Amino acid sequence: MNSLVKEASRAGESVGLTVDRLAIDGGIPLKGRIEVRGAKNLVTKAMVASLLGETPSLLRSVPDISDVRVVRGLLEVHGVTVTEGAEPGDLILDPTNVRSAHMADIDAHAGSSRIPILFCGPLLHQLGEAFIPDLGGCRIGDRPIDFHLDALRRFGAVVDKLPSGIRITAPHGLRGAHIELPYPSVGATEQVLLTATRAKGITELRNAAIEPEIMDLIAILQKMGAIISVEPNRVILIEGVDKLDGYTHRAIFDRNEAASWASAALATGGDVFVGGAKQEHMMTFLNIFRKVGGKFDIYDDGIRFYHPGTPLKPVVVETDVHPGFMTDWQQPLIVALTQAEGASIVHETVYENRFGFTDALIEMGADITVHKTGLVGTARRVPRRDLEQAAVVVGPTPLHGADIVVPDLRGGFSHLIAALTAEGRSTVSNVGIISRGYENFLAKLEALGARFTVEG
Ligand code: EPU
Repeated sequence: MNSLVKEASRAGESVGLTVDRLAIDGGIPLKGRIEVRGAKNLVTKAMVASLLGETPSLLRSVPDISDVRVVRGLLEVHGVTVTEGAEPGDLILDPTNVRSAHMADIDAHAGSSRIPILFCGPLLHQLGEAFIPDLGGCRIGDRPIDFHLDALRRFGAVVDKLPSGIRITAPHGLRGAHIELPYPSVGATEQVLLTATRAKGITELRNAAIEPEIMDLIAILQKMGAIISVEPNRVILIEGVDKLDGYTHRAIFDRNEAASWASAALATGGDVFVGGAKQEHMMTFLNIFRKVGGKFDIYDDGIRFYHPGTPLKPVVVETDVHPGFMTDWQQPLIVALTQAEGASIVHETVYENRFGFTDALIEMGADITVHKTGLVGTARRVPRRDLEQAAVVVGPTPLHGADIVVPDLRGGFSHLIAALTAEGRSTVSNVGIISRGYENFLAKLEALGARFTVEG
């Protein structure tokens, strides 16, 4: 391991601060074994859930990524004591001295994260008020919080808009509510779960998101003392309870990270064993991976993903809420599709602006056309929303090295894969953003035989 990589890996997430630009010599198949740990999109919410308990919680398999650090900082400004436990990846979260925080402190710790919105329910129960600064997140569309605020109002919360953000109070406490989401939003479903568990009475949530990370959050809340039942047809019933305790829980693995490394194996013509990946939560991805021609073997301790050695095939795929094909999987997959023989179509239906990363791929030689609306006449699994866009990827096209700038987390990982696939040298800037969701990615790249140097 070269010394800068070592330093960056030691610093964990702060790779985002210390490393900005990589020079990558592509054209080498990625081969070897890497491990994935807890899912970013569960761990950060599980940390917030600890606020609801009257005793400390122990969360296991927590990855060292910057989103975890952001939530840790936010919990600490609210008086939660966060310490490492005995095993690597253990976090102990003690909410005994939870207190209100100033908007400026919350803002300073929130960075670009959207997680503060999920503090509302727990803080309203514990303190009677919550402050939420203007929210960031990846630049992949408007990402409004209207579903969250509407749901909170239904529980009896009062929302006041301030110049710097939002103040939320519950003058008469929080009561169970009937809520139907306009769309099965992951965050809004989590909002309702975190608020309803200690609200008075029963909450019925319709059109809920049912992603595996949400099921894992429900499992955590049940360990804490909540009564939650998942009914057919996206209905979740929550019976409010007076008190919750802390939990001990090992986080579900990060299926987005696993899918990213799988696509990297396919695009580079490689062979990667993703330790910790589990078939049951990746079935939709595995089906598409197989249709493209990728091979995989399932083991008890992970999944081996590899290139077949014969030409890849084009696919038609659309992103969707679970159990559909995740929006976070399309960016790395598209790099592999540039190497398939024929025209693939990818419809993005979850976010309105998630094909921006393809500009860099085109610069590297890919043949990709982004359509601002969906393509009429192509098959759709479910009725689509107005915001859908389509990318048509025609392959195979050899990719060549270029100077590219990472736009967001998933787009950024796809840029890394493109640079690893391309012949020649690429420089990839703004790579720090990738550490929001990919633990020790430089060390993992090195373990897989990637050839790169840290430039700045
Ligand atoms: N939406 C609204 N109003 C709302 C909330 C959402 O219109 O109040 C819209 C969004 O604008 C978007 C759609 O609903 O078009 C879906 O948003 P959702 O609420 O489901 O997404 P999220 O909770 O903000 C999480 C993940 C995302 C992942 C999506 C979809 C976290 C921290 N983020 O976002 O992950 O793409 O669910 O599965 O859990 C990533 O990991 O890179 C990432 C962006």
